[in-house]
Amino acid sequence: MNKWTRQIHRWLSITFTVTVMVCFAALAQEEPAAWVFYLPLPPLFFLLVSGLYLFALPYTTKWRTRRRTAS
Ligand code: HEM
Repeated sequence: MNKWTRQIHRWLSITFTVTVMVCFAALAQEEPAAWVFYLPLPPLFFLLVSGLYLFALPYTTKWRTRRRTAS
């Protein structure tokens, strides 16, 4: 699960970067479509969720190991 989430986070970061680049390309157009600027939001949301999970992982692992050794 740890490995998977790390891979998902990594590839989401590339997806997010591409959508931001698309936004900059859209800015160069004369009349950019407004919806283009919402494109980074879905990958950013999933980056936030997977990132918070990755952040919590070392603490929950320690907590789980301590509980197992205590019993
Ligand atoms: C939105 C909120 C985000 C949170 C809360 C977050 C959190 C994290 C955490 C906790 C890690 C693991 C650090 C570790 O212990 O090694 C991580 C790794 C990483 N993050 Fe994020 N992140 C976020 C957004 C982003 C964004 C916007 C990008 C790039 C566009 C990004 C790219 C990466 C990459 C490339 C890694 C390394 C993955 C690996 O170890 O293979 N993250 N992030």
